[in-house]
Amino acid sequence: MSTEADTMTQSHPFQAEVAELLRLMVSAVYSETEIFLRELISNASDACDRLRYEAIAKPDLLAGDSDLVIRIVPDKDAGTLTVADNGIGMDRQELIDNLGTVARSGTRAFMSRLAEAKDGTGLIGQFGVGFYAAFMVADRIEVTSRRAGAAEPWVWRSSGTVDFEIAPASEAQGARVARGTEIVLHLKPDHKQYLEPHEIERIVRTYSDHIQFPIELKAADAEPRRINAASALWQRAKSELTAEDYKQAYRSLAGAFDEPAMTLHYRAEGRQSYAVLLFAPSTQPFDLFDPARKGHVKLYVRRVYITDDAALLPPYLRFMRGVVDSEDLPLNISREMLQNNPQVAQMRKALTGRVLGELETLAKDEAAFAKAWEAFGRVLKEGLYEDHERRDQVLALTRFTTTKGEGVRSLAQYIADLKPNQTEIYYLVGESVDRLKANPKLEAARARGIEVLLLTDPVDAFWTALPLGFQGKPLKSLSQGAVDFSLVPVVDESKGPEAEDAKPEGVDDATVIAAVKTALGEQVSDVRASQRLTDSAACLVAGGHGPDRELERLLARHQGSAGTKPILELNMRHPLVQILAKAQTQGRADDVGDLSALLFDQALILDGEVPPDPSGFAARLNRLVVRGLAAAG
Ligand SMILES: Nc1ncnc2c1ncn2[C@@H]1O[C@H](COP(=O)(O)OP(=O)(O)O)[C@@H](O)[C@H]1O
Ligand SMILES: [Mg+2]
Repeated sequence: MSTEADTMTQSHPFQAEVAELLRLMVSAVYSETEIFLRELISNASDACDRLRYEAIAKPDLLAGDSDLVIRIVPDKDAGTLTVADNGIGMDRQELIDNLGTVARSGTRAFMSRLAEAKDGTGLIGQFGVGFYAAFMVADRIEVTSRRAGAAEPWVWRSSGTVDFEIAPASEAQGARVARGTEIVLHLKPDHKQYLEPHEIERIVRTYSDHIQFPIELKAADAEPRRINAASALWQRAKSELTAEDYKQAYRSLAGAFDEPAMTLHYRAEGRQSYAVLLFAPSTQPFDLFDPARKGHVKLYVRRVYITDDAALLPPYLRFMRGVVDSEDLPLNISREMLQNNPQVAQMRKALTGRVLGELETLAKDEAAFAKAWEAFGRVLKEGLYEDHERRDQVLALTRFTTTKGEGVRSLAQYIADLKPNQTEIYYLVGESVDRLKANPKLEAARARGIEVLLLTDPVDAFWTALPLGFQGKPLKSLSQGAVDFSLVPVVDESKGPEAEDAKPEGVDDATVIAAVKTALGEQVSDVRASQRLTDSAACLVAGGHGPDRELERLLARHQGSAGTKPILELNMRHPLVQILAKAQTQGRADDVGDLSALLFDQALILDGEVPPDPSGFAARLNRLVVRGLAAAG
């Protein structure tokens, strides 16, 4: 005979990713299983935050039960650990959606990383897997939940295999859960240590002390007692807090698992008062390059969570995590109203200044900053073209890989190492450092020992399009316009323009250049003698105005535009160019044509491009080699 509840029980399969995740959890030999409690408490705290936010508009939701609390109840007889909250709760559909699919982006990142990893257990600690972590310690979980304001409580039940059940809650369950969520874990035999009150207390202190809602422990016959500080960490005095407190708060607020590279905790007083607790990560956050470029600073108003979408920092600081808690904003401010709120705008400005100032302090520790730069530098650099006002400040913070090669360097370091008479800061933009290092455009700079910044991030092509300088020295691309190194002494004497003797008699540069220009026709905008080259025969550069070569390439790829034509620069002392000169004086037009095309194509190849007519390139090369070697043999 079946009861009514039985007939209303429905089975749902887990989303495939969840099933996979659960297989890993169930068999986990992960040593830090205790983090499951942190995850459940963090969810309970979020649920209380969300209820408080919704109750601003609908105070009835709190009726009769306005003290939000998280309760932990170990029951040794039953072998169960219960984590309950009187927060927002979930209705039937929310139980299905939230506890049956992978919704959080952190878990998604975890899953994709898992596919690459041999042993997934090491990743659990790095990413956190939210609610599902509870299956590391429990072989059966029952979630009873009643959405605030809703009549019916529902039960979600699973043993962490392929499916879960949803049913209306029994009368007894419903009576226990007047609002919010109760999670009952049937602990695996080898995880009964989590029923010991002192163990629970230790875990809560370690990971969840900063949770602003009271966490109560109700053990056996004892009265419930509070086991956390239960005040928002950012409201506490700095002097009360340890590095460990900050680390745990960072991890919990940011859903991160690394150490903060930088912690900024202060209270602003004055026109507005607000508490600030911000962190910079030390490893690259997984969603740093999400196209939405969303920020991760949570806005609270007088301890009430409002949103993490208030754009409290500009997008180029979106790697920052944390909380800003305002005393002045109205509680009932809608998320939409925030966009145009002058108080928020003023906060954003002040916060941006503080964060950059703190990064400057961090930058004094070269090694620490190099690591941080690795984590978020590419995003910070977006400030170079987005934040006109603070451009110089961001530029001073920017770190570069350079031809010097020893780790990343600042422009201040670059300037300190300028060569005599060097008045510009040189850079080259391209796809990889190795490619750039092999680029002939570096040759003349190398001969003079001039340092060159090697820029390989996609954003580099964009910010370098702006006229920028540092300490009075303009930044100058080695693949754009004319460069003049003539005042900087040559270090390697064999490579300088002074090695004039190599030049054959009676050949006029202008005639050769004109001949190449005629041969290449529409493919180039100009041909000229190069200042950049010492060893290679030719290179392509962009004109002095308009986009640089790399930007040109990016634009062409994305917009399919043909772009502007490059300038071909020739190394007038190169043997190939001299042979070309000779062919020209002897009136061998075919050879002049082939050699010109060869110079153009190899310059393209050295820039990492494919010649527009590869078969023509091969045919010409073969022709020249066969003719040359036939004569030699
Ligand atoms: N105690 C709870 N009260 C209300 N909703 C909850 C609770 N626990 C979990 N949830 C819901 O389940 C979702 C999944 O939780 P979780 O796996 O920890 O991921 P995350 O917390 O990052 O979203 C939450 O986003 C929330 O919607
Ligand atoms: Mg969670």
